[in-house]
Amino acid sequence: MTRSLKGSRVLVLGGTSGIGLATAQAAATQGAKVTVASRSGDKVKAAVAKVGSGATGEPLDTTNDAALEAFFSSHPEWDHIVVSVAAGRSAGIHDMTVQEAYGKLAKITPEGSLTLVSGYLSQRPNKDALLQGCINAALESLGRGLALALSPVRVNTISPGLIDTPIRASMPADKKEAMLERAAAALPARRVGQAEDVAEAILMVMTNPFTTGSTIFIDGGGMIA
Ligand SMILES: NC(=O)c1ccc[n+]([C@@H]2O[C@H](COP(=O)([O-])OP(=O)(O)OC[C@H]3O[C@@H](n4cnc5c(N)ncnc54)[C@H](OP(=O)(O)O)[C@@H]3O)[C@@H](O)[C@H]2O)c1
Repeated sequence: MTRSLKGSRVLVLGGTSGIGLATAQAAATQGAKVTVASRSGDKVKAAVAKVGSGATGEPLDTTNDAALEAFFSSHPEWDHIVVSVAAGRSAGIHDMTVQEAYGKLAKITPEGSLTLVSGYLSQRPNKDALLQGCINAALESLGRGLALALSPVRVNTISPGLIDTPIRASMPADKKEAMLERAAAALPARRVGQAEDVAEAILMVMTNPFTTGSTIFIDGGGMIA
């Protein structure tokens, strides 16, 4: 059993932006062989260049079951898989079945791990984002269930609070800044999160051999504010 990522094959789905990209970069820094995947070929190309260290990338839409199946069957076992795919506002229940599919399709080495990224709306509902809260809660439950079903592969969920990533790229810049400032002032940590804050927690659960079935909140105290 090794705590090191050196030489490990790490797949980051949604690894071309925000939390996924920061995770890919952090894993590569620790010597992992990183592959990133997301829908946009351009984003994949840019992310591979940013991650460096021999990283590879492939376009993949995780809502396309056939593409997902073809992807996993064309690759050998992974040591660690991280799912940091932004489902977006229009996310439907379909996404949950796709997340479930990782448990069935993905080949992970027995000493490896699967890490899901949910969000603290699972525990701290927002009346304007009820469905996202439900999806996050389902992901956290799925993570615990998969930890039993895929044992000895370890499965954990990281549940971020408000993180400043390109997920809000469509918001006007001034509105976004004002919203982030208000949020920071209301949080016990007095700041909003950065993608790197979440990536650090993802790497911890990937490499700690006694961590499985856990949900870890990286939310600046959002749950208690
Ligand atoms: N940022 C926050 O405040 C926050 C808070 C709580 C939870 N989260 C969760 O954290 C995760 C990552 O969010 P983020 O902030 O890092 O978002 P982001 O910067 O927008 O990154 C999302 C990534 O997902 C990829 N993606 C989206 N749909 C996809 C699909 N169908 N198939 C494959 N890849 C897809 C995107 O690339 P393409 O466009 O190329 O597909 C991108 O690489 C999400 O699950 C989000 O809900 C974020």
